[in-house]
Amino acid sequence: MGRQQWGTRAGFILAAVGSAVGLGNIWRFPYVAYENGGGAFLIPYLFALLTAGIPILIMEFTIGHKYRGSAPLSFFRAGGKKAEWLGWWGVFVAFVISTYYAVIIAWAMRYTIFSFDQAWGEDTGSFLQADFLQLTEVAPGETGGIVWGVFIPLVLVWVITLGILLKGVKKGIEIANRIFIPTLVILFLIIVVRAVTLEGAATGLNAFFQPDFDQIMNPAVWVAAYGHIFFSLSIAFAIMITYSSYLPKKSDITNNAFITGFANSGFELLAGIGVFAALGFMATQLSVPVAEVADAGVGLAFVVFPQIINQFPGFNGFFGVLFFLSLTLAGLTSLMSITETYVAGVTEKFGVSRNKAVIIGGGLAATISILFATQGGLFFLDVADYYINQFGVAAVGLVEVIMVVWILRKADTLQSHANLTSDIRLGLWWKICLGVVTPIVLGFMMFGLLKQNILQEFDNDTGNYEGYATEFILYGGVAVAAAALIAGILFSLGKWSKHHA
Ligand code: PHE
Ligand code: NA
Repeated sequence: MGRQQWGTRAGFILAAVGSAVGLGNIWRFPYVAYENGGGAFLIPYLFALLTAGIPILIMEFTIGHKYRGSAPLSFFRAGGKKAEWLGWWGVFVAFVISTYYAVIIAWAMRYTIFSFDQAWGEDTGSFLQADFLQLTEVAPGETGGIVWGVFIPLVLVWVITLGILLKGVKKGIEIANRIFIPTLVILFLIIVVRAVTLEGAATGLNAFFQPDFDQIMNPAVWVAAYGHIFFSLSIAFAIMITYSSYLPKKSDITNNAFITGFANSGFELLAGIGVFAALGFMATQLSVPVAEVADAGVGLAFVVFPQIINQFPGFNGFFGVLFFLSLTLAGLTSLMSITETYVAGVTEKFGVSRNKAVIIGGGLAATISILFATQGGLFFLDVADYYINQFGVAAVGLVEVIMVVWILRKADTLQSHANLTSDIRLGLWWKICLGVVTPIVLGFMMFGLLKQNILQEFDNDTGNYEGYATEFILYGGVAVAAAALIAGILFSLGKWSKHHA
């Protein structure tokens, strides 16, 4: 059986954009940008996009295209065992993320239904915590009982995702993205157009774009920009390597990477504009400053947005459905891509059929995800998300560029490979971004994070992340992040199935 392939160029681009455009664009970007200097954040953001995001995307597309394997197999072919573990590390980071990412999609699905009659009532915050998540009776680290309101949509999320993966790359993932992504763009455009024409929209947009230039010199802002770009572009997750391994031989790699990168950022900016226009509207309705309603962090989508929907001047249910359906679609196309990374890795390593890998790998992730559908699920989700992002994604990215450029010394090989089929030529700029700029920035970033998290986390003066108990952080966060690395190393020890060696 030959390797699976995308049917068309547009199919690949839609799938790559589908992976990139996710929950991160809609609820994460707006508040990260706002908290980190508003308009001034765009400078570090663009810098991170151009020096790290797109160059790494090009690198991952080229690796997948050249070595034609899942991330572990591609790294194995590029550098043997000393590189293979890195591919598995990315795969396990993706695995962990998929277990809770699915749960947030399940919330969005449930909220789509709540939207019809604004079942969340006036106090949307206590509705989320007490009525929907039933968080009130448990302490961090306890599971409590299963929350059926989350569990049932969660099952649906996995059935849809695994069902699509079972159909394969061309007939499953490609077709799903061909339907979901254009639908998402249309739904989202309707929301944004409505949002910017609401009364008070300009106030919100001013708050969003008004630059706080003092913030540009703050290293934390740069860390936020790099961290967001990695998450948002789905790089350093083994994902883009896997997706590009299904490209036909003659494919313009560099162009595809630019299109994917700019489409993702365009969507993100649009989301920022839509969300802040709506926040401006709400602030105007309540006669409070925008800062007061915007300062909701992760609660933005599930607490503040329902409030905005309550205030809408008409068609409230309709716009609520549009918004949460957008979140659901954006999330599903990303979850497919995350899950595909371990499906591909397991298939190739152990020589099992694709369907078996989907059932075993996806089934395992689905089972673990039930943990986050319990009464204490939100705490687990919070800790896992924080630590896997801090010590998973950025760390894999840092090791990846060092491995490719400095240890395997593949920059030139990859450059000529990409140039063979691409319109835009890679030059010295690409190698400098990958080999020098990105490692320096990420290196500083990791150093700062380690200092802050490991040294201060357990220092009683500053306290733990979110004030959680040290034990809970150790087992729930640090151990999970470490387990992804250890599992990665263990998986690289065995032999490849003879089909792929
Ligand atoms: N890029 C996705 C987003 O912006 C998130 C994601 C992360 C998707 C990891 C796949 C893997 O939401
Ligand atoms: Na994104």
